[in-house]
Amino acid sequence: MKTPLTALLGCAAPVVQTAMGWVAEPPLVAATTRAGGFGFLAGASIPPGEVEAKIRAVEEACDGLFGVNFHMFQPNADEIIGAILAHAGRIRAVSYGRGPDAATIARFKAAGILCMPTVGAVKHAVKAVELGADIITVQGGEGGGHTGSVPTSLLLPQVLDAVDVPVVAAGGFHDGRGLAAALAWGATGIAMGTRFLLTTESPVARDTLEVYLRTGNPQDIRITRAVDGLPQRFIDNAEVQRLELMSAPARLAASLRHGLAYGRQSDMSLGQMARLLWRSARSDDGSFAATVMAPNLPRLVQRGLLRGDTKAGLLPSGQVAALIDELQSCEDLISGIVTEARARIDALSHLTTAEAPNG
Ligand SMILES: Cc1cc2nc3c(=O)[nH]c(=O)nc-3n(C[C@H](O)[C@H](O)[C@H](O)COP(=O)(O)O)c2cc1C
Repeated sequence: MKTPLTALLGCAAPVVQTAMGWVAEPPLVAATTRAGGFGFLAGASIPPGEVEAKIRAVEEACDGLFGVNFHMFQPNADEIIGAILAHAGRIRAVSYGRGPDAATIARFKAAGILCMPTVGAVKHAVKAVELGADIITVQGGEGGGHTGSVPTSLLLPQVLDAVDVPVVAAGGFHDGRGLAAALAWGATGIAMGTRFLLTTESPVARDTLEVYLRTGNPQDIRITRAVDGLPQRFIDNAEVQRLELMSAPARLAASLRHGLAYGRQSDMSLGQMARLLWRSARSDDGSFAATVMAPNLPRLVQRGLLRGDTKAGLLPSGQVAALIDELQSCEDLISGIVTEARARIDALSHLTTAEAPNG
């Protein structure tokens, strides 16, 4: 299925697997790419010194082009930018939030790498295009990870009207009906996180996957600011509730504890940790709360996703998990989505012909 997105990214299907910390690891990215989609490696959760090896692992496991996601305020931002540029032959696109400045974006573009930020608001889409974005991914509020409050059905047409670059729809997609709808809106493809988390190539622990598959009510996958000060969606559990009930000083103490432990695990010196805090405080998202609480996130998410601790860990998720009740391989998922989208588009074009007054 060809769209402007497949032409730009060099993939067979207009289906993007988005970056998810500790989930979008080389096996998932390579499986997506082998299946004809376009996978993004989650770079923001790669510890210093390991970037090159992860990029090589994707390159060795598939033949196609892929993408890398990163944040400007991660401790090894310079390392990851350098590695991406060094692998420009295979890395076709980078994704980010409100991260790199115009000069960094220009370096990517000069190397032939497409800049494809994810935005959750119209003004951020406009700003990203002004800074040089080639493609915009629009994530509606039902999406997983850090997310806004405007649903995809409203945000997508708003952004399509506001920018003149190709737009990819994200937030709540899981099947071919969604792809057909996104294309009908005028988007050039879909991007999915949660649906790819629930594939057989996902590194998430079995017990945790069971919780995602069992969750059947979208309202049980809710937004909280209690983890890192920014709105983020999680499957409701004892840990989300515990964090919400904590006093501000207790939350700060827990955050410092988690930050130190995560820094040690990632081999960061105290100086590097201080620099990370400073960079994050100066970033666009850097409210004081977001900065001091951010260290809560990695340890608790790793505990939930990788160690299978579904009570004391956190389970980031889009609301769409409530509509998914089985794991699929990336191959079956992407081919099924394309087949179903074609069928929907076919059915619609017949409907139009049959109902046309002179048809
Ligand atoms: C478990 C999980 C982890 C995520 N981690 C990141 C991340 O590290 N960086 C990022 O830019 N987005 C992250 N996201 C957001 C996704 O990249 C994507 O935009 C979102 O999941 C799309 O919505 P959907 O889940 O409804 O498909 C994460 C989402 C999930 C579910």
